[in-house]
Amino acid sequence: MKVLVTGGAGFIGSHLAEKISAENEVVVFDNFSSGKREFLEGIKCEIIEGDILNQEEIENAMEGVDICYHIAADPDVKGSYEKPVENFEQDCRGTLNVLEACRKNNVKKLIFASSSVVYGNAEMPTPETAPIKPISNYGAAKASSENYLMSYSNLYGIKCLSLRYANIIGPKLTHGIIYDFYNKLKGNSKELEILGDGTQKKSYLHVKDCVDATVFLAERMNNGFEAYNIGSEEQISVKDIADLIVNEMGLDVEYNFTGGNIGWKGDVPKMLLSIEKLKGMGWKPKFIIKESIIDTLNYLRGIK
Ligand SMILES: NC(=O)c1ccc[n+]([C@@H]2O[C@H](COP(=O)([O-])OP(=O)(O)OC[C@H]3O[C@@H](n4cnc5c(N)ncnc54)[C@H](O)[C@@H]3O)[C@@H](O)[C@H]2O)c1
Repeated sequence: MKVLVTGGAGFIGSHLAEKISAENEVVVFDNFSSGKREFLEGIKCEIIEGDILNQEEIENAMEGVDICYHIAADPDVKGSYEKPVENFEQDCRGTLNVLEACRKNNVKKLIFASSSVVYGNAEMPTPETAPIKPISNYGAAKASSENYLMSYSNLYGIKCLSLRYANIIGPKLTHGIIYDFYNKLKGNSKELEILGDGTQKKSYLHVKDCVDATVFLAERMNNGFEAYNIGSEEQISVKDIADLIVNEMGLDVEYNFTGGNIGWKGDVPKMLLSIEKLKGMGWKPKFIIKESIIDTLNYLRGIK
C-alpha cells in the first residue's frame, strides 16, 4: 500500500511512519513547522516538504495514495485561545484541504488524529457517544474537522476514521506538560511554576500504544465514518506528575501554583476516556502511566 502521513515528521507522526514503514510504501508530508528531519532518520520513507494549506502541494502528494493518515495540525490547545483564526486554518481548513486532495485523487481511506477535547467537560469515563461540546478553539476545529469527515464519507464514499486521542507522551515529545516541567526545571531546579492548582487530572497514553491502536483500527476500518477513543484507563493529577518528575530527577523543588482549577482558558481539567469500544475489539494499552512518564522524561534527559 502507498500510505501518506501528513505531519509524519512530528512526535506522533514519526512513530506512526516508523511503524507502518515495515509493510508499506510511506510518504511523509510535512512543513517542518514543529516536525524534525532527525525524527525520520533510519525510517524507510519518501519525504515531501509541503503545507496542507497549499492545496496544490497536498493534491500532488496524494497522487497514487491508497490510505492517508492525517496527523498534521497545530496541537497547541492553549495557543488556540490567542490565535483562533490561525488555529482554524491549520486544524480545520487544513483537514478540508486533505479531504479534497483525497477526493480528487480517489483515496478511499482517511484516518484522522482527533482529540479528547472535542467532548469538553464530559461525564467520565467518556464514551464515544457522549455529546461533542468543545470548550476551546482547538477542540472546535477538531470537532468541525470530524463533521467534514462525516460529510465526505457520505458524499464521496471515503471511509473515515476519527481517533480521539487522550494526552500522548513518550520519546520525541516536543510539547505538553512533561516537556514543560522538564524544561522549566532545567532552567531552575529550585522552583517550578505549575499552571492551575495542580488538581487537574487527566489520562496519558504512551506514543507506542497510540500508534499501535491507530494502526490496529486502520486495519479494521470498514464503515463510512467511525470515531474511537484512544487512551489509557488511568489518570494522574498535575501535582502528581510534578512529584514524579522531581523525584526521578532527585531535586528539592518549591511549587508555585498559578491558581484556579484549570491551567489555561479552554483547559478541560479532568479527562478520562472510555476505551471499552476499542477493548471490545481486542486491543488494550501495554504501558502504565508511570512508565510512560518516566520513559518520556528519560528521553528528554538523554537517558536511554
Ligand atoms: N500529542 C498529543 O497529546 C495529542 C493529543 C490529541 C491529539 N493530538 C493530535 O495528534 C496530531 C499530532 O500531534 P503531535 O503531538 O505529534 O504534534 P506535532 O507538532 O509533533 O506534529 C504535528 C506535525 O504536523 C506538521 N505540520 C503542522 N502544520 C502543518 C501544515 N500546515 N502542513 C504540513 N505539516 C504541518 C508539523 O511540522 C509536525 O511535524 C495533531 O493532529 C494533534 O492535534 C495530539
